[in-house]
Parts: sequence; structure tokens; C-alpha cells
Amino acid sequence: MPTIPYARPNLRIDLTLAPLHGVTNWIFRKAYFHHFPGMDKAMAPFIASVNPAKPTAHHFKDLLPEVNQVIPLVPQILGNDATEFVATTKILADLGYAEVNWNLGCPFSMVAKKRRGSGLLPFPDLIEGFLGQACPRLCLPLSVKLRLGRKDPQDILDLMPILNSFPLKLVYIHPRVGTQMYRGEVDLDGFAAASRLCSHEVAYNGDIKDLRTFEMLRSRFPTVREWMIGRWAIFDPFLPGRIKGGPVATGRRGILQAFHDELYADYRKVLFGPAHVMDKMKEVWTFIGKSFPNCEQLLARIAQAKTLVAYERAVDRVFSR
Ligand SMILES: Cc1cc2nc3c(=O)[nH]c(=O)nc-3n(C[C@H](O)[C@H](O)[C@H](O)COP(=O)(O)O)c2cc1C
Repeated sequence: MPTIPYARPNLRIDLTLAPLHGVTNWIFRKAYFHHFPGMDKAMAPFIASVNPAKPTAHHFKDLLPEVNQVIPLVPQILGNDATEFVATTKILADLGYAEVNWNLGCPFSMVAKKRRGSGLLPFPDLIEGFLGQACPRLCLPLSVKLRLGRKDPQDILDLMPILNSFPLKLVYIHPRVGTQMYRGEVDLDGFAAASRLCSHEVAYNGDIKDLRTFEMLRSRFPTVREWMIGRWAIFDPFLPGRIKGGPVATGRRGILQAFHDELYADYRKVLFGPAHVMDKMKEVWTFIGKSFPNCEQLLARIAQAKTLVAYERAVDRVFSR
């Protein structure tokens, strides 16, 4: 991981790469932490909790220690069954993890209607029952990542006394409600109200788009130590380094290209067939493409590429612009 000579040594903050399911898998995390400084750790995209009778190695492939050497990583579990959750945590502890996170924020209606992710937020009694069963049996410290509510930001306020009554390591709050998905503004008043009520340490996550936004949030929420950044740390992978006060990166295109090339080479080794490789890389380009202003037509060629040769040619043209 590149080290940053801290220009602001008194800046006592931690930056965490947010989990983006389908994007920030181990291959992505390895290349990202290899080329871009500033992040202190990553949270892995969720895995579903598993039936203790039938855990499969495949289920944990993103979390195997041998592919997660460089990066301090927190695994995340999605589920609402305490027995499965405890069993899954036990497997994670055996893999060497020191903390586990419970996903209470997933906004997708398919998930929410099964009362998982943000679908649990209107049901504080179910959350209390889950934590009451799970916490005494967990072998790892637990953090939770949640939104303000499913539809109503009052959910988190009703829930907070329950969260306060369990030994949580950290509460990550993304200040939107589930039905917003990722649309609309983050609700900073909602974050302030929830964190005032929370007796655990609170981490902030959502729309940290640039250094100015970070400075604004930091001055508004000076007690927050841990900041989680997802999409914006991929739209602009140099942002975490800037937040940490590191030197302005020179040769940014070269660094982006080296990152791209590592990712592309690794996906070609691991994924089966060019279509899968291109799907993954095209998804990555929907993020890193933002680092290439005024290149819409060239980026469209990447999105339209049907063969690896066409893909590579389109990518070369973007990098050589
Ligand atoms: C494609 C995608 C996948 C996501 N997957 C997860 C996930 O697996 N677990 C989770 O807690 N949040 C997930 N999120 C939410 C992000 O972790 C984060 O909370 C959200 O993007 C807001 O932060 P940002 O504005 O810094 O991106 C996902 C978001 C996106 C866009």
C-alpha cells in the first residue's frame, strides 16, 4: 500500500473504502490499495449469512486470507437469522477476521421485502430479537451499517435505544432512507439527530464527493473519526490521498492506467471468458470514466466494445488522450 507523508499529522481520521457489491471485490481492492494512497481499510461487500449445516468454501471466496493480504478488511453479513449469522461469523473468525459488520442498509426491494438490509429498519423489535440472540454468542466484535430508515428517517431514532443497549463496536450511518436508493441529497440533519442519540462511536458515509465536502462534513461533525467513502473514491481515486493531506499526485493518468492494467490482467486470469471480463471492466469504467472529462465519445466506445481487442483499443485511446 503506498504510504502518505502526512501533510496534516494532526488529522486523526480513518478512511474506509465502502463495500460496493459487484465492484469492490478482492481483485478490485488489491489493485485499488496498490495504486491509490489514503484509505486505511476496506469493508467487503456483503455475503449472505449461511445455514451452518451447509457452508461452502465458494461462499467465502472474496474473503479468503490468501487474497486479502495487504488490506485491513472488515467482512459484512446480510441476514436476519441470528443462528446463521453466528455460524457465519464463526467461519470468518476462523479465517482470521477481527470484526464483523451487519448490513442493515441494503435498499433493494427484493432484499428489503424479506426483512433484510434496510427492510429490517421499521422493525426495531426484530432487530432487538436478533441482537439479543446473536450478541452473547458472537466470537467477534460487531459493527452495524445502516440507513436512516426504510422509508422514514424516524426509524433510526426509534431504533437507537435498542442499538445502545448492545455492545456494538461502531455504527456506520448512511443518511438516506432505503427507498431513496442512492438518489437525492444526503440528510445531514438526520445524521446529526441519529448520532446525537447514539452512545456508540458513529462513522459517517455518503456523498463525500470532494475535499470541500469532506471539510464541510468534518467541521459539522467534529467527533466523527471514521469516514467511509464508496462511489466517490472510485470516481476520483486520488480523493482519499487529498483528504489525508498527501502531496498532489503527479502522473495521474499513468497511475490510473497502471491500476486499470492490473485489474484487467487479474480479471483475465480469474474470470471465465472475454464477455465476463468486459462486463466487469465496463462496470469499473462507469466509475473511473469520471476521471476523464470531455471523453464521452471515447468512453462510449469502451461501453460498446464487443471483443477484448476492441476494448483494449478503446481503452488505449482514452489513456493516450
Ligand atoms: C453498486 C453498489 C453496491 C453496494 N453494495 C453494498 C454492500 O454490499 N454493502 C453495503 O453495506 N453497502 C453497499 N452499498 C452502499 C455503499 O457502501 C455506500 O453506503 C453508498 O454508496 C453511499 O456511499 P458513497 O456516497 O460514498 O458511495 C453499495 C452501493 C452501490 C452503489
